[in-house]
Amino acid sequence: MKLYHKLPSIKNARVRGKRVLVRCDFNVPITNGRVADDFRIRASLPTLIWLFKHKAHPVLITHLDPIRSVKPVRARLEQLLKRPVQFLENVRFHKGEKTNSRRFAAYLASFGDMYVNDAFSASHRPHASIIGIPQLLPSYAGFLFLKEIKILEEALYPPRPFLCILGGMKLETKLSVLERFLKKADHIVIVGAIANTFLHAKGYLVGKTKVEKNMISTIQQRYLKKKKIQLPIDVVVTKHVVREANSIKKNDMIFDAGPRTIQLIALYAKKSKLVLWNGPLGLIEKGYVKGTEDLIRVLGASKARVVVGGGDTHAVIKRMKKEHQFYHISTGGGAMLEFLEDGRMPGIDALLKSKR
Ligand code: 3PG
Repeated sequence: MKLYHKLPSIKNARVRGKRVLVRCDFNVPITNGRVADDFRIRASLPTLIWLFKHKAHPVLITHLDPIRSVKPVRARLEQLLKRPVQFLENVRFHKGEKTNSRRFAAYLASFGDMYVNDAFSASHRPHASIIGIPQLLPSYAGFLFLKEIKILEEALYPPRPFLCILGGMKLETKLSVLERFLKKADHIVIVGAIANTFLHAKGYLVGKTKVEKNMISTIQQRYLKKKKIQLPIDVVVTKHVVREANSIKKNDMIFDAGPRTIQLIALYAKKSKLVLWNGPLGLIEKGYVKGTEDLIRVLGASKARVVVGGGDTHAVIKRMKKEHQFYHISTGGGAMLEFLEDGRMPGIDALLKSKR
């Protein structure tokens, strides 16, 4: 049976008149005291609207990192819901959150008669508000949580041909998911900062580009000969100059994928039924955004189902007003990858084990 069907759905909870502690992930960017991107807040609205409609009394909890007050988040949420909401302060103000202290979990649990986890994107964290409370209160999955599981479960057992595009940074955190995709995907394109370490491991000059040195021998032994793995064939270096991946100069730094690489991904995408993409192609914060934008255009126009994860990529998709062209944009970055490793996360196990 699919996990989606095994999870206790909020729909089956008797919430009328009950205080429902709802763990959301409203860890959103805040600029000058205001929410700069409300994607995650909007994503939890179906759960909250449903609870109000069924005469429950939701009490919301979230973390915000860097640690600061939830006030701007509450203000945005109240604007969207057009009503006041009860919100506890940032759970990470208390050190018992990260250590999953039983006392802190009990303190949080005292605000509810039942618990709803709608924080899919934080459910890879074994923290008190994710795994501690479900031991103390009858617990359910919210609509956003369920939607993420339903769609990402498709990528766990993907239709073929299946294309996976892995970008972003921190290769070490992506190796397990790469292993899984080696079994499940037809093509895996490595882009973003993690691709630079692959290019270096392949013996290409990467100039002054930073690479993850501790990963070189693993890549050489395990991944370089895999035919499924495709590396960038051209890249964008310092001052937005495009170079062939094997012609990097000693003073260059690699910042983005080049246009021929995007064309190659477009060819793979054309043949695929499902495309999964995590992590930007370039260093967006330094203005190297063209590779990511071009890939958004390509995948947005593709006939394949395209599932995208990671906040940075979502921000670009939103700016380009192309959200509607994607089958699913996950609220999770790290959580999405961890789920795709083996379909498990601490927050999922906690819900399955909770007594109702
Ligand atoms: C995220 O922003 O990816 C989630 O909210 C998890 O945040 P964390 O990495 O601070 O645990």
